[in-house]
Amino acid sequence: MGTDVSYFMIEMLTEGMNMTLSKLPYKGTRDFFPSDKRVQNYLFEKMHFVAQLFGYEPYDGPLLEEVDLYRAKSGEELINEQIYSFIDRGEREVAIRPEMTPTLARMVAQINREAPRPIRWYAIPNLMRYERPQKGRLREHWQFNVDIFGGKENLAEFEVFQLAITLLTSFGANDSHFEILVNHRKLVDHLFKQKMHLADDVALKLCKLLDRFKKLPEAAFLEQLALFQFSKEQESLFLTYIKLDSFEKLQKFLDQHHIDATVWDFKTFSQMAHNFNLQSYLRYDPTIVRGLDYYTGIVFEIFDKHPENRRALCGGGAYDRLLEIFGEQALPGVGFGLGDVTLKDFLNAHGLLPDLSKPSNHVLLTFQTEAGMNATMRLAQLLREKGVRVITGLEALKMNKVFPLAEKRGAKCVSILGDQELSSNQVALKNLMTGKQVSFALNDLGAIYKFIME
Ligand code: HAM
Repeated sequence: MGTDVSYFMIEMLTEGMNMTLSKLPYKGTRDFFPSDKRVQNYLFEKMHFVAQLFGYEPYDGPLLEEVDLYRAKSGEELINEQIYSFIDRGEREVAIRPEMTPTLARMVAQINREAPRPIRWYAIPNLMRYERPQKGRLREHWQFNVDIFGGKENLAEFEVFQLAITLLTSFGANDSHFEILVNHRKLVDHLFKQKMHLADDVALKLCKLLDRFKKLPEAAFLEQLALFQFSKEQESLFLTYIKLDSFEKLQKFLDQHHIDATVWDFKTFSQMAHNFNLQSYLRYDPTIVRGLDYYTGIVFEIFDKHPENRRALCGGGAYDRLLEIFGEQALPGVGFGLGDVTLKDFLNAHGLLPDLSKPSNHVLLTFQTEAGMNATMRLAQLLREKGVRVITGLEALKMNKVFPLAEKRGAKCVSILGDQELSSNQVALKNLMTGKQVSFALNDLGAIYKFIME
């Protein structure tokens, strides 16, 4: 009934206004035609595989959450500019999830007391953010989320680095294609508040400016920096800090300014990078602070090294106190989100995406006369029972149509069943990759299976 009414209303509207509806999806979202879905499935399959390699368990949550969940810790930008929210019929302020971490924290808070540590979970949710659609940025994206709670400091961080690296290398990427840029929230906090003597709100504003460093032209960045009206000493310390672009330079800076392990145990961190053999992937970047407010420890972004696609395909960090908003004791967590849009751009930029423009089927079974129909359908059924991906021509196909159809449907093999084959109870099979063609007795299922699958 409801549907009838809405169709009726749409008809009235469109007739009245003499217009047709757009065939395009809502701005910043995508329709996934089969060829697009194949690519997305390819990305997701690797995500599932790698997460499970590391013992992470899948979880999921609702598409809608109360806005307060994000208000608590996600930060002003998300709440003021990016969230899709509405008041529901029960007067609740509800949002379409713009990120997964608050949902995850809410769920972990429910089982926190009884769950064995560490808790290793992953998900691939779709998220919506009201952003200006552009390369690498849409309003709906899917995001591979990997998080570990209650893991030992540093070890947990390095595990998620390793997991992210394993995922990207599983696509054929290596350290010439991407790098993990790291920083530490406590270091930034200490520097701004203790060394530059900034009040909390000014430190936060400076953090927000730093977060935009890579997006702003240098002149615009300096112009905005000037608005802080820093003293010579403050400015000089800040400008020295943002030029630290290696672990070595950072170590010198920390020593010079007597910033010890209570702020960031950087020595242990860099020693572990060495032990895990990850130095070639990790780089210190003072401008990584992350836009989300809940991070309290390591923060990182995986950056594409391709000169035409210098952008983050993944962002994450450590957060100590997210469970506290649910009245639970603090439980340290660390994790990341890696987006499907940016991952696809990354793989495309480096030529690492296989050709998935066609489906992939093992065999197209065709018959050339109606008399061959039943035998073909029976053979299709028997092969499917053995796990062969079979498509059939649903009508008698002339020979000149068979091979173009097999090509379009991405079939590796094709079968022919014409009068000649039928009279001898045989079927002809051709492997389109090798060109090899063999005739088999129609009931010799084992041999047919072997020919198709070898
Ligand atoms: P985020 O940096 O907001 O972090 O997003 C992580 C990644 O998601 C980005 O690096 C990008 O690849 C992708 N992404 C974000 N927004 C968009 C968009 N509008 N269009 C396309 N891709 C996008 C978080 O969301 C954290 N909750 C991640 C996290 C998990 N931290 C700890 N655990």
